[in-house]
Amino acid sequence: MLSKAQNDLITQTGPGTPGGRFLRSYWHPIATSEEMPIGGHPMPVRILSEDLVLFRDDKDRLGLIGLHCAHRGTDLSYGRVENGGLRCLYHGWLFDIEGKCLDQPAEPEDKKFCHKVRQTAYPVQEKGGAIWAYLGEGEAPLIPDFQFLTAPEPNRLCFRVVQNCNWLQGLESSTDPAHTTYLHRVPPGKSERSGGNVRELRGDDSPEIEIEHTGFGTRIFALHNSPSGKKYLRINNFVFPCGATPSTSGGDVGYQGRWYVPIDDHSHARFEFFYRHAEPLDKDGLRANREKNVGPDNRHVRREENRYLQDRDEQKNGSFTGMGRHFPSQDAFAIESQGSIQDRTQEHLGSSDVVIIEVRKALFKAIKHMQDGGEAPGLLRDASHDPLADFLCISTFIEDHEDGPSYCRRVLGERAAAE
Ligand code: FES
Ligand SMILES: [Fe+2]
Repeated sequence: MLSKAQNDLITQTGPGTPGGRFLRSYWHPIATSEEMPIGGHPMPVRILSEDLVLFRDDKDRLGLIGLHCAHRGTDLSYGRVENGGLRCLYHGWLFDIEGKCLDQPAEPEDKKFCHKVRQTAYPVQEKGGAIWAYLGEGEAPLIPDFQFLTAPEPNRLCFRVVQNCNWLQGLESSTDPAHTTYLHRVPPGKSERSGGNVRELRGDDSPEIEIEHTGFGTRIFALHNSPSGKKYLRINNFVFPCGATPSTSGGDVGYQGRWYVPIDDHSHARFEFFYRHAEPLDKDGLRANREKNVGPDNRHVRREENRYLQDRDEQKNGSFTGMGRHFPSQDAFAIESQGSIQDRTQEHLGSSDVVIIEVRKALFKAIKHMQDGGEAPGLLRDASHDPLADFLCISTFIEDHEDGPSYCRRVLGERAAAE
């Protein structure tokens, strides 16, 4: 349970708030590359409570500038891409990707004041199938070379879906190992499309959970007693400031990067980066599954307005939720129905919520550190000091004499020795 002040501190995202300043210290995905292809049209983007427009200029360079024209506020996302920038439709002012005003056509030549006008502009770059933006102060850090961003293109894929609640509820769902055996319980005898029978691997019992705080965030160990009698370990990670990397349910074939990027305090975009180590992804299958479950508006088909299409008959016949088989839709139900900002002054955390408690502690510590004049944690500034050097995300059977932390130490040690 948090105080109201604590809940505000870790859920507020706007400019000038401590939480907003912390979140702005990192790069965030703001669109998929598919949404902004070469020659793509300008698109409005709301991120961290700021209204912006993402566009490619006539040289295909990416720009991210304030949505409302510095002249008198008209929406620039309707503007024309031409003459080295984006031109406002109201009186023709032209802005380049750095926010410089290049033209004020309605002004007489001797009265133009372009040099006095600056549209808000932020650095933006494309990496791993997504467009990333940096809204922070000072020099931008580097975007880490996660495998799900740098693997060969056939082995990775990025999707975006908008969810109607505060970003932290999204993050908490992805770092919470205790919910999977309930919310995502798979009916007996059925296997998931992600490969392998999840029930056979991890059984129905709640896992034993341990955590370690790391330079990049928090390492989360969930140890399941597999029905085969062996120990089945899943290592997931919280990555500063709003990322989680759940391992694939069906063995060590890859994992997902999930970024819960605040749109504002009451909604966020969940970016899913699918990744396979050794084999191309079944992209057609993933796209078909998404089309069934996410509408053209980038929102889940199952949503509050239709009570998540819950089917009570389905629920009687083996499904735990009565809400189909698509895990992200089930997660959306769980987190959106907590309220647009969960009132954490009313919750009752138990021992199985240790990850929730520890990830919040990491967030509070990071914000406090910044309030005391320090830098945000886990920033990658140069490759020789990579906070992700000891990053590990895996799901695997382990030997009886090992536990999560000892397995992790052994694998990281072997990896370091091989380098
Ligand atoms: S409001 Fe954009 S040019 Fe006037
Ligand atoms: Fe989930």
